[in-house]
Amino acid sequence: MSRVPLPYNPKILELFRHPKNLGKMKDATVTAVAGNPTCGDMIIFYLKINDEDVIERASFESYGCAANIATSSIVTEMIKDMKLEDAWKISWKKVIEAVGGLPSVKFHCGILAVGALKRAIRAYYQNKESSPSWLSEELTFEEKQALEEEELAKMISKRMKKEGRK
Ligand code: FES
Repeated sequence: MSRVPLPYNPKILELFRHPKNLGKMKDATVTAVAGNPTCGDMIIFYLKINDEDVIERASFESYGCAANIATSSIVTEMIKDMKLEDAWKISWKKVIEAVGGLPSVKFHCGILAVGALKRAIRAYYQNKESSPSWLSEELTFEEKQALEEEELAKMISKRMKKEGRK
């Protein structure tokens, strides 16, 4: 059975082939993971944050698809030199707009990238004594979606293991 290639726009293909800020950051202030290693769709975000709560550098590692790599890459560019408060406000829709659009079946790949960013910001304040008022206690849409995806992936992998044992 042959697969129909997804209609990715040239910007996504370019970011996929030549992602920016790809790789581990050894001196990261904070790191966050979103996704599930069992199914392969996993992303790690690294942020270097200064004393003024500004993101000096950002990088990522992605084990997801082209859409995930492209959206993660653009997120690292968007948040450079940004205050955490402003980075927190970035929505998955803004990111998808920034890459020039995504096929709707791939929206979750961009949501996962923003989920990882928000987890990193949350983790940063968890290590501090107090968190700012703009940091909602309730999980953001992107964080919730990442969680749902992780739970679904766990369920599927459990089921597959069970089937394999039959
Ligand atoms: S990250 Fe899972 S399909 Fe794109």
